[in-house]
Amino acid sequence: MRLHVVDHPLVAHKLTTLRDKRTDSPTFRRLADELVTLLAYEATRDVRTERVDVETPVTATNGVKLSYPRPLVVPILRAGLGMLDGMVRLLPTAEVGFLGMIRNEETLEASTYASRMPEDLSGRQVYVVDPMLATGGTLVAAIQELIRRGADDVTAVVLLAAPEGVAVMERELAGTPVTVVTASVDERLNEHGYIVPGLGDAGDRMYGTA
Ligand code: URA
Repeated sequence: MRLHVVDHPLVAHKLTTLRDKRTDSPTFRRLADELVTLLAYEATRDVRTERVDVETPVTATNGVKLSYPRPLVVPILRAGLGMLDGMVRLLPTAEVGFLGMIRNEETLEASTYASRMPEDLSGRQVYVVDPMLATGGTLVAAIQELIRRGADDVTAVVLLAAPEGVAVMERELAGTPVTVVTASVDERLNEHGYIVPGLGDAGDRMYGTA
């Protein structure tokens, strides 16, 4: 597994405002969207392309276009939905699959309650998006499912990561073609499974506590 922490002043600025407990939901959603777009730029550095011919108003030349099979973007419900627009804005040809996963707040174990994805992901590049890599349980389960379906290149885009979650990913996904792209690896997880200093519950801050 490869880890890429995006070091950029715009990323740091937006992340700081996301962390601020006074930031309201509309602002949080807008900033998360903007931050994902910046992370997506880095996360798609190895997106597959093919050469194509193109005619400019001046002459014939060639360039590149995103190739087939189309990349797949998979938001993990619920909070990953807040990252979907930012990803597909940069990946206009992407297909979108959905994985609904919930973490038991006592055992911190992840379980799947909804799944809508192609069964066969052979040869596909997959971008899985979830704001918080905390214990790693949810992302590991999601990525193992994507690899089981044949995905041969998986990039997880997360706003924030905890060192404990990164360690779990490195252990459980050793030897797999997985990259994690994040704005920060924070200090630690607290006893409730929250990232410290973190930004609180990402889903609640985006969508409220419904
Ligand atoms: N999920 C969140 O939303 N926040 C955390 O800090 C950890 C997991």
